[in-house]
Amino acid sequence: MKGLSILLTTCLLAVMGLVTAVCSGAEQPAAAEPEKLFEATCSQCHPLSRPKGLRKAPLAWKDTVMKMKNVNGAKFTDEEAEIIINYLSEKYHLPL
Ligand code: HEC
Repeated sequence: MKGLSILLTTCLLAVMGLVTAVCSGAEQPAAAEPEKLFEATCSQCHPLSRPKGLRKAPLAWKDTVMKMKNVNGAKFTDEEAEIIINYLSEKYHLPL
């Protein structure tokens, strides 16, 4: 009987560990890594130096990112576009 409950406890702990691992793995949405999202999305057609060499106001970054999607055929969701626009607007803004 004792052996069985130890076995059960071990199983329970293993399952809990697995659930924790799966859950913590799942909470890594793109939103948590704007830089990685930007790098992966915007390096597909031209080097990252293309946007990185520029400084734009937030609305101009929005225009640029939406142009990549609507004119040049870049593939990303509106949600991802917003994350990238916010990232670029914060990091590559016009001198203050
Ligand atoms: C599907 C291919 C493709 C992807 C993906 C792409 N671009 Fe472009 N990009 C282009 C092409 C083609 C040009 C040159 C023509 C033009 O200016 O629109 C360009 C030009 C640019 C320019 C210079 C022109 C300007 O308007 O300032 C910037 C900045 C730029 N891209 C930023 C980005 C950013 C930021 C991303 C990620 C959201 C991105 N690109 C993703 C194809 C792409």
